[in-house]
Amino acid sequence: MIHKHDLIIVGAGLAGLRAAVETSQYADVGVISKLFPTRSHSGAAQGGIAAALGNEEHDKVEWHVFDSVKGSDYLGDQDAIEMMCGEAPDAIYELEHLGVPFSRTKEGKIAQRQFGGHTKEVIDENGNSKRIPVLRACYSADRTGHVILHTLYEQCVKRNVRFYAEYFILSLIIDDGVCKGLTAFNLRDGEIHTFHAKAVMFGTGGYGRAYRVTSNAYANSGDGVAIAFRAGIPLEDMEFVQFHPTGLYPLGILVTEGARGEGGYLVNNDGDRFMKNYAPTVMELAPRDMVTRSIQTEINEGRGINGGDFVNLDLTHLGAAKLKERLPEITGFAKTYAGIDPVKQPIPILPTAHYSMGGIPTDLYGHVLADEKGTIVKGFYAAGECACVSVHGANRLGTNSLLDAVVHGRRTGKTLVKYLREAEFSPLPDDAEKKDREMFANLYGTSSGENADKIRLRLKEEMTNKCGVFRNEKDLNSMLDTIHELEHKFKNVHLSCKGKVFNTELMEIIELGNLLEFSDAIVTGALARQECRGAHWRTDHPKRDDVNWLKHTIAFKTEKGIELKYKPVVINKYQPQERKY
Ligand code: FUM
Repeated sequence: MIHKHDLIIVGAGLAGLRAAVETSQYADVGVISKLFPTRSHSGAAQGGIAAALGNEEHDKVEWHVFDSVKGSDYLGDQDAIEMMCGEAPDAIYELEHLGVPFSRTKEGKIAQRQFGGHTKEVIDENGNSKRIPVLRACYSADRTGHVILHTLYEQCVKRNVRFYAEYFILSLIIDDGVCKGLTAFNLRDGEIHTFHAKAVMFGTGGYGRAYRVTSNAYANSGDGVAIAFRAGIPLEDMEFVQFHPTGLYPLGILVTEGARGEGGYLVNNDGDRFMKNYAPTVMELAPRDMVTRSIQTEINEGRGINGGDFVNLDLTHLGAAKLKERLPEITGFAKTYAGIDPVKQPIPILPTAHYSMGGIPTDLYGHVLADEKGTIVKGFYAAGECACVSVHGANRLGTNSLLDAVVHGRRTGKTLVKYLREAEFSPLPDDAEKKDREMFANLYGTSSGENADKIRLRLKEEMTNKCGVFRNEKDLNSMLDTIHELEHKFKNVHLSCKGKVFNTELMEIIELGNLLEFSDAIVTGALARQECRGAHWRTDHPKRDDVNWLKHTIAFKTEKGIELKYKPVVINKYQPQERKY
């Protein structure tokens, strides 16, 4: 079956829905989501969305820009960061006017809390300038992503956006360098559909599910990133994977950084607030990469609780009333998943794969780029976590992700409105579904073969151990061998369930193919990059190396394997300095 819309957006998280709100006033918009839209992973974002509103204390866009550049370990493109932080206040007020129920200050303004790496400049008693944490994250208790997601979904329904819920995208249709649509299958009946569009936008999110311990939902298998890569689009800076410091032990479910923003402490087995040894000025509110490495070091050096692989996040001194008002979700998660009451007991936490700084390369307007020179792929756009603009560089600051999704969803929407005014439907190639039908026929035809669960579990376990918080050449080489071996096995994977209706085994096999596809790019990039920068920490190359590595990685899929090229970082006002907090 063929569906025709001016614009097809894939992904119903914040980036996709914000773009749908922008474009649907002028164009016929379809949104494809592998989940029911309000189950999209943006809804799991807890602590806040950054903007220098200055509602609780003096703040400046310029400080937000500086913090994001420094937090990115100077790999973020400064033109993109200036734009994102500059547009943040307007983007937040628009959300407020669309109906997002933010928490409020006593005066009724949008409430703001502290988050790691977000600072203000103050002059100390000796007349020296120093930076201390600032209240910059706009929040709605600890369910900020949830309320924004639901508000945007309501606005899309009001604007007659057509939703294709529980459709799983299979392939992009890029013909003569122009994106003309895509194919997807309907989970409800297993049928393959073609979507014909003047433009396609991906807001397909991240891929934490390549790791065993992750804050990400089961759905976060990086489908968009993998499908773009398979279609010949390169991937940028994939080696930069963020590990959030506080995942609930042992699964890794997010325990918001807002908990530390509200005053929570990290303590080791000796009861020591160990962050004083790593980031004495800002302590628990250092950027994520630093807090994560500090926690992992405590664990690796035997100071985890009872020698185990977790430390404690202590909120007991905050009191029941504050936890109820500001952190109700994580209080509930701790009770449900760890049997812990945070009012009375510390929460066991460990670092958890959380966010991808890299992704599909785009320019500031959401156009997808075909190479390191900046050639635009006509008709193809991306925003949010699946895209790399690059506003996060080597390490994203907490609450800049929702901001990225909303600002770039909105910007890409505005670009698309202009594009769609002029664009025509280009004819589809003959039988755009052929490859997908062959893939389905092969899978349904198997009577034996490799077990997908075994392949997936091994991939996740080894990615966590060998391409995680700390990396080295030996482990990365071994990880690449594993990926190649698993890719080989995957060619012979067995589909045991032959049903058509909600065949989740089929879906998981396709997801596994996607996990393998981009994991190769993560590890290849990580092996090549012989330095420490942000979230990429090479114990065998323990320094940042601006002479050789102040550049973005661009990975291409070729017949012979992955080929890496590089492109310069945009440096405007801030020259790279050593990162101290
Ligand atoms: O800690 C958190 O609430 C997560 C926020 C983020 O990833 O931006």
